[in-house]
Amino acid sequence: MSAPFLVAKGIVKRFGALTALSGIDLEIRSGEVLALLGDNGAGKSTFVKILAGAHAPSDGDILVEGSPVMFSSPKDAASAGIATIFQELALSENLSISENVFLGRELKRSIFGIPFLRRQEMRKRVDGLLTELDTHISDPEAPVGSLSGGQRQAVAICRALNLNAKLVIMDEPTAALAVAETRKVLSLTRRLAERGCAVVLISHNIADVVEVADRMAVFRRGRKVAERLRAGTNPEEIVSLITGAHPDVRALEKTN
Ligand SMILES: Nc1ncnc2c1ncn2[C@@H]1O[C@H](COP(=O)(O)OP(=O)(O)O)[C@@H](O)[C@H]1O
Ligand SMILES: [Mg+2]
Repeated sequence: MSAPFLVAKGIVKRFGALTALSGIDLEIRSGEVLALLGDNGAGKSTFVKILAGAHAPSDGDILVEGSPVMFSSPKDAASAGIATIFQELALSENLSISENVFLGRELKRSIFGIPFLRRQEMRKRVDGLLTELDTHISDPEAPVGSLSGGQRQAVAICRALNLNAKLVIMDEPTAALAVAETRKVLSLTRRLAERGCAVVLISHNIADVVEVADRMAVFRRGRKVAERLRAGTNPEEIVSLITGAHPDVRALEKTN
């Protein structure tokens, strides 16, 4: 097995008197969809916000491709190849798909010192990404405001890929989507992994997760209480790990 893209060691996060995360160890691998599961308040979002540079850990280490990193902003995490897609997608409704994908890093050429946007080239690149992800979106010039929730997720993923993301983190990407749209976003996560990306997926829907994740980590009260390969578990076991009814979790919680 190849070295993990990212290793988190002993991650602790305190918010004042509250310990949101205590000693999280986790490895994130390229080409793999890793799901984070757990009840509300278990610490999933806090953990991925640390990976995304949005929160600084109170303790612990993060290694990216073997080297320790210290992110002081989401920009730092982005330069390390980490893209996060939150539920609030941060897309501009009135701009086109390709403008959104290239927002802030437009391709330009200078003619007699006057900068011109390389629209054709940007459109082509976005069209390629949309096709590669099998999104069934045919017009990169369509305004994002005209797209469905699932299509917007696809645009956010294209944006991440255009930034050469090596790890794409998705926090509850399907929470607001209808069933058919959810299917499409789930298959996008698979395609990202096939493309060699590492994917971290947070979802409430255990059936969905069991379908697409290669590996699952269960968080409970700020701790990682279990990790399972898809082949080695089933939805019933995952539920019992989340609720704490599972004997492994009970044993763990007795000793803490
Ligand atoms: N910015 C914050 N300030 C204070 N407490 C927070 C903050 N963010 C999260 N928490 C707390 O940390 C715990 C974990 O929250 P969170 O990571 O959002 O859980 P999850 O995503 O698993 O539902 C909760 O008790 C939550 O109230
Ligand atoms: Mg959350």
